Amino acid sequence: MTSPESIAAAVAVLRRGGLVGLPTETVYGLAADAENELAVRRIFAVKGRPSTHPLIVHVAQASSMESWATSVPPEAHRLASAFWPGPLTLVLKRSPRASDAVTGGQDTVALRVPGHPVALAVLRAFDGGVAAPSANRFGRVSPTRAEHVRADLGSDVDLVLDGGPARVGVESTIVDLSGDEPLLLRPGGVPVESVEKVLERRISRVPGRKIRAPGLLPSHYAPRAGVLLAEPGGAVAKALALAGNGRKVAVAVPEAVEVPEPLVALRIPADVDGLARELYTVFRLADEAKVDVAVISVPGEEGLGLAVVDRLRRAAAPRSS
Ligand code: TXA
Ligand code: MG
Repeated sequence: MTSPESIAAAVAVLRRGGLVGLPTETVYGLAADAENELAVRRIFAVKGRPSTHPLIVHVAQASSMESWATSVPPEAHRLASAFWPGPLTLVLKRSPRASDAVTGGQDTVALRVPGHPVALAVLRAFDGGVAAPSANRFGRVSPTRAEHVRADLGSDVDLVLDGGPARVGVESTIVDLSGDEPLLLRPGGVPVESVEKVLERRISRVPGRKIRAPGLLPSHYAPRAGVLLAEPGGAVAKALALAGNGRKVAVAVPEAVEVPEPLVALRIPADVDGLARELYTVFRLADEAKVDVAVISVPGEEGLGLAVVDRLRRAAAPRSS
């Protein structure tokens, strides 16, 4: 795990404009000094991500909102005190501290205080904003373990801190508070029901149209294997119908469900929080098993289910390549 020396080493890498694989409670981030334009540009180069797609700025405490945003509405304070440190990102009108490089030239900035002790230790010691997208190549599966980052990015990342497996497993919930009413830009680790409770109002589940967010492209978060969605309880039957003719088919089901030959069994937790935590690992296992298709049942959309269903739908969407 992580020693005080490795925290100091990570801060040194950030200060000289390098890239750090940073554990957070959602997924591992590819971190750079948010105020160093060259370092931020390196993130885009390493990820292979279009430079117009904005990054989340990670900070150590909620009071940093005032320096990165020009106006911080009361809703932002309420959500921050309810969920930070934690898997929530707030989009606010940006201040001059947030550069075009980080915001993709938009007039807003995305901010988050992550709920992982290693990320927080780095942010406190660094004492600045850290831009960090998920530490995967563009369009591929987000990493939830240090070894995923090393396998994906190799020597393109200067240092990877090992904070163990990510506790939440799906990316942060993004709420846009820069307009007239709160918008859900991406379902994630904080259930939208919990956000609604704090704001005492309903929020549309359908993401707004004006948003330029790569996580909103149809085919994203996808393994190389095809992903096919099944009705609850219908995954094994659907997988069996596809198997044969030289096609290798996996089915993702809880331990209690029997998986007949010739299907490959990918085991998932029976509860939706567990599924969120393991989802990206299951995508990776499907690729390691070199299956052509992985079949998985769609969970209900309550709690973390909304984020899981969102990622599953994107993984199952038609691919351009
Ligand atoms: O859980 C997470 O959010 C992880 C960890 C590392 O913190 N980060 C993450 O970053 O998922 P990334 O870059 O893979 O996704 C960030 C999303 C993108 O869809 C991006 O377009 C959106 O946040 N975003 C960032 N700034 C924005 C802004 N100003 N307005 C709208 N969307 C924004
Ligand atoms: Mg990502």
